[in-house]
Amino acid sequence: MKVTVFGIGYVGLVQAAVLAEVGHDVLCIDVDEAKVENLKQGLIPIFEPGLTPLVMQNYEAGRLNFSTNAEEGVKHGVMQFIAVGTPPDEDGSADLKYVTAVARTIAQYMDEHKVVLDKSTVPVGTADKVRSVMQETLNARGVELTFDVVSNPEFLKEGAAVSDCMRPERIVVGTDNEDVVDLLRELYEPFNRNHDRMILMDIRSAELTKYAANCMLATKISFMNEISNLAERLGADVEKVRQGIGSDPRIGYHFIYPGCGYGGSCFPKDVQALIRTAESIGYNSRLLQAVEDVNDAQKMKLPAFIKRHFGEDLKGKTFALWGLAFKPNTDDMREASSRVLMETLWAAGATVQAFDPEAMDEAQRIYGHRSDLRLMGTKEAALQGCDGLVICTEWQSFRAPDFDLIKKSLKQPVIFDGRNLYDPERINKRGFTYYAIGRGE
Ligand code: UGA
Repeated sequence: MKVTVFGIGYVGLVQAAVLAEVGHDVLCIDVDEAKVENLKQGLIPIFEPGLTPLVMQNYEAGRLNFSTNAEEGVKHGVMQFIAVGTPPDEDGSADLKYVTAVARTIAQYMDEHKVVLDKSTVPVGTADKVRSVMQETLNARGVELTFDVVSNPEFLKEGAAVSDCMRPERIVVGTDNEDVVDLLRELYEPFNRNHDRMILMDIRSAELTKYAANCMLATKISFMNEISNLAERLGADVEKVRQGIGSDPRIGYHFIYPGCGYGGSCFPKDVQALIRTAESIGYNSRLLQAVEDVNDAQKMKLPAFIKRHFGEDLKGKTFALWGLAFKPNTDDMREASSRVLMETLWAAGATVQAFDPEAMDEAQRIYGHRSDLRLMGTKEAALQGCDGLVICTEWQSFRAPDFDLIKKSLKQPVIFDGRNLYDPERINKRGFTYYAIGRGE
């Protein structure tokens, strides 16, 4: 099947590569010429396990192509995916200018029936907007052509994007036209074997499903962080509580890890966007507002621990930081807790010596101009001469470090752990002062 994907970001590129892998003929369109050229050379703009070989193999096989030519893109596929970004507006609502621009482009160049699929995370009502923008454009051209707009949200996780896309838990399809369902079944058939994962619904429900899923997960995390704050003050250990409640299948073990706050390109943005959507219809979502407030406060926990230990003024102090990415297996630093941490430490006069297995280039891109950030080649080098160690991301390689070396390298044996990687008792026995999340003061 011929497929066009507008927007070569995380969602667009992974989806395109996976569709090509199962045999579809996929053309990706992006306005960024450098990105398109790089992809043709095999330079993938993001770090994502398994993605580079997948893109390369399918590009070489001729099933996956890249172009900046929008007209060519519209002519190529019956299926036209919109996978462009929806960055937050100034007030936190999703900015739809890229989505509507693609809709206009499709209507500008189409000369046969098209199925337009919204892959981007878009507020409820966006499909209606896409439809009216397309109709207006067709009217202005004076042509009579039919098209469908389908909501088909993406649920992939960074770091596991390829496998999530290859083996989706669900394929949500929101449509008001039964006739497109067959086409979608054909498109997704290779991913829909053994049992039917396609969940059909109306368009608005599909759009809300995406936000509801992310907001539910963010709520679980903020809830656990709230409990961790209580545990800390009550002399309980949140890790024990986590195990205790996770054993109830109605609660489950997933996504109840307390920490230094959730980040990334999705949760913070989507929680805010749903709050704004609620406001726009006169509904005050107290729960989602609380989820966001708890998370903002949680990102300040590590800086607060550090100031409790060293005092408010951190001039002359240097901190080793392990982990810059918002979570392991990605180089993405969007909304990462590490950024709030570093910016708070810098404001108090401290210097940071940081290491991350993948996000060093990204840190250089964002903060390369700062003289109070030193990016180090290994986690051991980051420790040298520092006053304490801070951990923001739970990379596997941080889980069993050489504690003797840490002790030798630091001026003071103190660890501020935002991901609860170590056993407090054992680490105290080794002579460390250990600050963790929700594990006693
Ligand atoms: C999230 C969702 O998990 C995906 O299902 C969704 O498709 C995606 O957003 C999206 O909308 O595109 P992602 O942002 O890649 O995926 O990352 P997550 O694995 O969900 O982690 C988000 C943040 O929550 C991280 O900062 C992580 O450290 C934090 N987290 C996660 C916790 O603090 N505790 C947990 O128990 C789990």
